[in-house]
Amino acid sequence: MSVEGTRIDFDPYVNDPLRWGASMAHHAEVMIPCLEAVGARSVVEVGAYAGDLTRVLVEWAAHAGARVAAIDPSPQEGLVALAAENAELVLIRETSLDGLPKIELPDVLIIDGDHNYYTVAEELRLIARRASGANLPLLLFHDVCWPHGRRDDYFDPDQIPAEYRQPIAGERAGIFPGNSGVCPDGLPYPRSAAREGGARNGVLAAVEDFVAECDALRLVVVPAFFGFGAVWHRDAPWADHVARVLDPWDRNSLLARLEENRIHHIAQEHALRVELWDARERQARLEALLGRMLDSSAVAVAEQLSWLRVKAGVATEQSMISKQEIRRALNER
Ligand SMILES: C[S@@+](CC[C@H](N)C(=O)[O-])C[C@H]1O[C@@H](n2cnc3c(N)ncnc32)[C@H](O)[C@@H]1O
Repeated sequence: MSVEGTRIDFDPYVNDPLRWGASMAHHAEVMIPCLEAVGARSVVEVGAYAGDLTRVLVEWAAHAGARVAAIDPSPQEGLVALAAENAELVLIRETSLDGLPKIELPDVLIIDGDHNYYTVAEELRLIARRASGANLPLLLFHDVCWPHGRRDDYFDPDQIPAEYRQPIAGERAGIFPGNSGVCPDGLPYPRSAAREGGARNGVLAAVEDFVAECDALRLVVVPAFFGFGAVWHRDAPWADHVARVLDPWDRNSLLARLEENRIHHIAQEHALRVELWDARERQARLEALLGRMLDSSAVAVAEQLSWLRVKAGVATEQSMISKQEIRRALNER
């Protein structure tokens, strides 16, 4: 990928074997121009996982002379290695709510950690308390569209005060676009809310409530790869530059339709996989049963009896029970 004349090579699927498009690295073409528009010299990524986006940020920062920090309580090996290799990347192994108060606020904050109303609302409260008005950093968000835009997900439900926690879907329930509840063959999000929508539910709900508190804040939603959001203060010195980058993408109906189509196919493919796993399990049980029948003396007696009935003309050959038939059925499988 080449952004603003800077060549950044990356594979966004390294840690995404099912190719769901899970990393914000997929948003690089809109994100990097935003960093450039701000003239960012410091960026913090909250929730960095294996470092797929972080790697892009580090490459960009090397050209821009900027610093990058990643806040994540459970960084994956790839991110730990990336931090070890790059002195300009600082890895903070804490939750956002513990880590954010301790750092100097950056020019741009990317919020992609715990995808629920409480955490995002608290993150925003912490940031706004330290940098209000035109000093607010550019805030970028992941997951402002389906599934977590309007449905909480809890990295660790015990970290969320009970009064803010939605009832949870649980291990046996899945979620499917267009279904605000849960269904057995939906995508597995066992720590997501059992219902989509309503007050104080989801990342976008938290961002919208934050923006509603101040007329001078702008919110853009780019409906691609689970949703990229941006919030900034209209009086920030770089506000018009960022608007020029993002306005063409904001709630773009073509992109929204593409994303709707994409998530439908991801969910549909998963439902077919579930069906296939169930069918394989049924087949394995059937084969085990047929195998036991081959060894069974009761079936041997039944075979002889049914042969006698055919010879006596009271049954047809097609209705015969035979071990040869069972063997053939097993071999065909
Ligand atoms: C979706 S992944 C981040 C992906 C990454 N930003 C990217 O685009 O490649 C979410 C990460 O958030 C981290 N996380 C969970 N709760 C968090 C919290 N309260 N504060 C910071 N990070 C958190 C998880 O450990 C996980 O690595």
